[in-house]
Amino acid sequence: DRETLVLGIETSCDETAAALVRRHPDGRGEIVSNIVRSQIEEHRAFGGVVPELAARAHVVHLDAIISRALEDARMDLSQVDAIAATAGPGLIGGVLVGLTTGKALAAASGKPLVAVNHLEGHALTARLTDGVKFPYLMLLVSGGHSQIVLVRGVGDYERWGSTIDDALGEAFDKAAKLLGLGYPGGPEVEKAAQKGEAKRFDLPRPLLREKRLDFSFSGLKTALRLAAESVAPVTDTDIADLCASFQAAVTDIVAVRSKQALERFAAEYPDSAPTYVVAGGGAANAAIGGALRDVAARTGTHLVVPPPALCTDNGAMIAWAGAERFALGLTDGFDVAARPRWPL
Ligand code: KG4
Ligand code: ZN
Repeated sequence: DRETLVLGIETSCDETAAALVRRHPDGRGEIVSNIVRSQIEEHRAFGGVVPELAARAHVVHLDAIISRALEDARMDLSQVDAIAATAGPGLIGGVLVGLTTGKALAAASGKPLVAVNHLEGHALTARLTDGVKFPYLMLLVSGGHSQIVLVRGVGDYERWGSTIDDALGEAFDKAAKLLGLGYPGGPEVEKAAQKGEAKRFDLPRPLLREKRLDFSFSGLKTALRLAAESVAPVTDTDIADLCASFQAAVTDIVAVRSKQALERFAAEYPDSAPTYVVAGGGAANAAIGGALRDVAARTGTHLVVPPPALCTDNGAMIAWAGAERFALGLTDGFDVAARPRWPL
């Protein structure tokens, strides 16, 4: 094992991102630079990410973001050991921009290419930030994904549950849109909910009676719309109460599923103290965070929530996943394809 430096490129959704990450021989990671350009302004008027606009913005900005990541580190490509780029899953236009750029840089510099699964990037981030050891459980709650995944090793995952309809962040975004709040919806709903009464509207907790570890949020969204219609015209107080009731339902769902997953983990790994890693924009929600801390305390679980900038999409998570793969000799040929869908 030797020290390696990896450039990571992330373009699978609405963040154009690049980073340099160092992996030490003992397996520790270190972020050398991490540059993220969010496209929120480009998409705000549409209340969601517009794939074609996203791909075009990645084309315009990616080269400069990579240059900045190198400049920030006072390095050039010759000092890099490998180039990692997200190859999926995600919006295919954007993935193509980042992966093709990664291939071009690898070809021009003669450095190896590592094609990274975006979800693996989220899954391994806690090893970069907190040195978490395998095996552990990950809860990913972002705008595009809601999953509970057993992480046994690099490239060794088992999905225990996922959403059968909307992702958690997507559900917040749709709820916000429905109530005339801004984009992205998560922070807007959370802010409105602070002044609301969560008990006022009795919203459903879909799937919660079933044993399986899957999520469902679209029925909740429909129930929210019906609740809003039942009190129309809605006042600010109604909106606050609707948001609080909605957030309470989502929080309940996440808490119950997490508890079940941790119990299963304890049964399968009686000798490992359970570690629960949370990733994705939804991890920023204080109510969800509080509920997860409760569950962790009650089940003797070590809860790891990386800093928000590393929970949401960024280049460091891709560079780090690339570094972990590279350390195992896992590199990819230039024929590797961009994949819109790519389960872990
Ligand atoms: O992980 P992320 O930045 O991007 C990806 O989807 O990959 O997650 C963004 C999502 C959005 O849907 C946003 O509404 C949601 O995370 N989000 C939140 C909060 N902050 C962001 N959801 C609930 N509460 C929040 N405070
Ligand atoms: Zn993501």
